[in-house]
Amino acid sequence: MKTVLSGIRPTGNLHLGNYYGALINFLKMQEEHKCFFFVADWHSLTTHPDPKMLHENVRNVLAEYLACGLDPEKATIYLQSDVPEIAELYLLLNMHAYLGELEKTVSFKEKARQNPNNVNAGLLTYPVLMATDILIHNADYVPVGKDQEQHLEMTRNYANRFNHKYGVEYFKLPTPFIYGHELIKIPGLDGSGKMGKSEGNCIYLIDEPKTIEKKVKGALTDNGPEAPNTPKPDYIENLFTILKVVSTPEAVAYYDNLWNTGETKWYGKLKKQLAEDIIQVTTPIRERINDIKNDDAYLRKVTRDGAEKARESAGKTLRDVREIMGFKMF
Ligand code: TYM
Repeated sequence: MKTVLSGIRPTGNLHLGNYYGALINFLKMQEEHKCFFFVADWHSLTTHPDPKMLHENVRNVLAEYLACGLDPEKATIYLQSDVPEIAELYLLLNMHAYLGELEKTVSFKEKARQNPNNVNAGLLTYPVLMATDILIHNADYVPVGKDQEQHLEMTRNYANRFNHKYGVEYFKLPTPFIYGHELIKIPGLDGSGKMGKSEGNCIYLIDEPKTIEKKVKGALTDNGPEAPNTPKPDYIENLFTILKVVSTPEAVAYYDNLWNTGETKWYGKLKKQLAEDIIQVTTPIRERINDIKNDDAYLRKVTRDGAEKARESAGKTLRDVREIMGFKMF
């Protein structure tokens, strides 16, 4: 049995990228492995969220994950801020994280460029906190989307560096994980890169069918292939990428064939199918979200039980690490 861990920042509602990048793999893994799932509320502080909004966002994300099928009987579900052991290990690991490598991180450079007036120390050491989340349970697998690949690489570096420095083989080197194929990136509908909360190009799990239809209808397309068997431009490839995860292989083959024969005037049909299939995936989830979101007693129980289990596991790691680093009882 392996240890699996994944997390999400509570900065908005869950979108299809979160679902197919991370969650769907985690749902399968909770059946057979020791799984931890947490809400990365400390991570969301880099953008200074309004305290009321933060609490609501944590509630939303938690309810949405539970609605997707995350099971507190099978996985340990907790809030990062309920586990103070993470803060201590973060402090210890920070001593082994160097400025040069942190400054080179793609996510840091991107955020610093987007928000030049808020380049805080938390943003710089974001990958160290993320590494701590993973190493505190000594996870083997981390189901994440492609955008987190570099953070996982850094986590392996820190684990390796720690082991080497103290002459131990304590931390495992965690790997990003996705069933069956490579790490996935769900694109936005606007022809740009990834679907993302800050990109404003998302289909959310709570979107009503009408909203989904409207968003898909508005996706960027063109007049159709210019000749048979030409490569698809990125924005058309994007639609196929989403089709591949929500539809059947037959449907994908059908539209691929239309593209390759060079026919035109079928984008409307493709979009209709895409919207229908997305709606089929999201409808049962959307229907459960509201019930769970308003059930304070349930959310309290899930997070309390989860925190207890997470602290037990985290506490063990921290005791070992303190000992290895030379903090000993008299
Ligand atoms: P976050 O909150 O941005 O996203 C949560 C998860 O969703 C995946 N994801 C995507 N996958 C495919 N296509 C997309 N368009 C897409 N958008 C988001 C992300 O890869 C991620 O798996 N730093 C993390 C949160 C975190 C974490 C951790 C994750 C903190 N500590 C420890 C795993 C382990 C983040 O910002 O994810």
